[in-house]
Amino acid sequence: MKKKQLISALDQLDTFKDSKLYLEQYATGSELGSEILLTINEDVGFEDTFVGDLGCGCGVLMIGASLLGCSATIGLDIDMDALKICQQNIESMSLESVCDIVNMDIIQSRSTSRMDKKFDLIVMNPPFGTKNNSGIDVKFIQRGLSMLEDGGVLYSLHKSSTRDFLMRKVKQWNGVEAECIAELRWNLEKTYRHQKKSVVDIEVDLLRYKKD
Ligand SMILES: C[S@@+](CC[C@H](N)C(=O)[O-])C[C@H]1O[C@@H](n2cnc3c(N)ncnc32)[C@H](O)[C@@H]1O
Repeated sequence: MKKKQLISALDQLDTFKDSKLYLEQYATGSELGSEILLTINEDVGFEDTFVGDLGCGCGVLMIGASLLGCSATIGLDIDMDALKICQQNIESMSLESVCDIVNMDIIQSRSTSRMDKKFDLIVMNPPFGTKNNSGIDVKFIQRGLSMLEDGGVLYSLHKSSTRDFLMRKVKQWNGVEAECIAELRWNLEKTYRHQKKSVVDIEVDLLRYKKD
């Protein structure tokens, strides 16, 4: 699928209605979403993979992965309101046979162990940890790694300003290697009333994690 087609498909999706700041609910736009997904598609390819989307929100990444040929995908999110919109998006694209959603706290829930070693590929745009939830970005990565099959790959979006910190962190984890595979820009449209600018341009990295 060409970038233009993917952008136009993702443009059809509904996004958060009343975004919850404490959950860092910012939707990945269709442009950035397409760049992330097509970079991954070139890197490993979605064809025939089982994909997890941690903190899936309204489902832009999991739905995009399905459009690029993954065999199945599960989106996990703590927020039922977001998952309702996600389900509507899945149905509007007629992807019910490929996409499932699970309501789950990725960090706290003991039942995340049900997902251990399940996915070939994980793609996520997790909370950055800027809203009194410092460290949640690292916890998402660790949770994601535990959900990867042996030989699986995890792709995660992060603020470029945290790259050095995240690279130092990974050195403490045995058998895990990480690399920044794309430097991207997130033109984040105003989501919350307290934001003064209508668009904020954020430098972001697409990081790739592999387990030995
Ligand atoms: C930056 S938004 C990204 C949403 C979506 N992946 C996208 O790309 O548009 C982060 C998402 O993580 C979810 N989230 C925050 N904390 C969570 C937790 N502890 N467990 C599961 N999901 C969580 C939020 O509800 C939100 O949907």
